Amino acid sequence: MSHLKKYYRQYLLDFAVDSEKIGPLVAKGKQHRVHLYGTKHVIKIPRASLYMRSYGRFTAQQVQRDIDTIRELFPEISLQTQVLCGRTHPERYVLIQEYLPHAEPVNRYTVAAVHAQLHSLMRKNIQILRTQFLFLDIFGYQGFVCSLRALLPFTRSRAQLTNLLIRNFRDGDPQLVLVDTNLSHLNHAGEFRLTHRFIDFGTILVSLILYRLFFHRPQADEKQ
Ligand SMILES: Nc1ncnc2c1ncn2[C@@H]1O[C@H](COP(=O)(O)OP(=O)(O)O)[C@@H](O)[C@H]1O
Ligand SMILES: [Mg+2]
Repeated sequence: MSHLKKYYRQYLLDFAVDSEKIGPLVAKGKQHRVHLYGTKHVIKIPRASLYMRSYGRFTAQQVQRDIDTIRELFPEISLQTQVLCGRTHPERYVLIQEYLPHAEPVNRYTVAAVHAQLHSLMRKNIQILRTQFLFLDIFGYQGFVCSLRALLPFTRSRAQLTNLLIRNFRDGDPQLVLVDTNLSHLNHAGEFRLTHRFIDFGTILVSLILYRLFFHRPQADEKQ
């Protein structure tokens, strides 16, 4: 654990995690630092960034509720994820999730392999948005930025989804898997900060536009 910054080392002291098992950084999401945990899992530690402070940090209870709702609404893509609560700060959390070492990102080229799954996922997502005012953010922050950049002329940036990965891409049985754990909420108006709701609303709107532009039809004619 000595390779972690002091903030994360102290944060983790409150949790029943085995510090010896915390391995190298897998990725830095906007919301979590993702580290290998043992060989079969990842540990996700909430980041203390300015962005997360202004967005409004999630509590363990909110994260657990979103995970349960995702499992209920989208069982076909949800991944086994355990929420550990802090011993002295029960509203704090870390996540332990199955590690997907060989999963491929979803971009305009790999999407052809999972296009039917993605299309039916988005149909369901829009239906749930209409009926329950909930939405699954498939892009993720990094996916959002790459995809917006890909709209610019003379760019090498590629549209990408970073909250979904493709498992078994090379084994002929590709499956979409959701690694992210949050839903965008247009309901529960009083429960979240105004910035939180504003970002969620923008996320939904821009996601729908970017999906339509880049992922609605696979680019089978373009090379990877
Ligand atoms: N279980 C996992 N196995 C392999 N890579 C993962 C896993 N979970 C996350 N990642 C990597 O970390 C990135 C960020 O993960 P995510 O959970 O979406 O973080 P955040 O909550 O900060 O958005 C993903 O795009 C992916 O590259
Ligand atoms: Mg994410």
